[in-house]
Amino acid sequence: MPERPFLTDIKTLRERARKHIEQGAVTEGYSTDRETVIELLNEALATEIVCVLRYKRHFFMASGINAQSVAGEFLQHANEEQVHADQIAQRIVQLGGSPNLSPEGLLDRSHSEYVEGDSLIEMIKEDLVAERVAIDSYREMIGYLGNDDPTTRRMLEGILAMEEEHADDLVSLLEELGS
Ligand SMILES: [Fe+2]
Ligand SMILES: [Fe+2]
Repeated sequence: MPERPFLTDIKTLRERARKHIEQGAVTEGYSTDRETVIELLNEALATEIVCVLRYKRHFFMASGINAQSVAGEFLQHANEEQVHADQIAQRIVQLGGSPNLSPEGLLDRSHSEYVEGDSLIEMIKEDLVAERVAIDSYREMIGYLGNDDPTTRRMLEGILAMEEEHADDLVSLLEELGS
């Protein structure tokens, strides 16, 4: 039998899995500070919800010559931020936490802001700022997690990639609008 220095032996793994089964997906091999991860995820959840609301507002308020294609982009982003919010809420539950969906204090928990914007250009610019905030905060969270929670990290990496796409889309829109 070859040595497997990086893997815990099966017997220990099984014994550990049987203990604390009420913790669901959270096993003793989970080395990160779970409470901190849940707190960080709740901030990310608030951020995504604020982004949904802001994009929805922009979608409904978009008007002018170029409004239709831009509004379509706003709506698509709103829907994608909602998917992120759901993924994050799901992961919080898996980690034994509870998703904070309270409207009270939502903006304080969120990293991004809710700015309505008066014109199409302003809306796009505010969305771009928010995406850049999200990109930075996801990058930091991924760095914090390191290799301690690969599942959460993979989820965040997927979300981060999409926020980068969103930022790219918004830059393209600004260019198309000559701004
Ligand atoms: Fe998002
Ligand atoms: Fe986004």
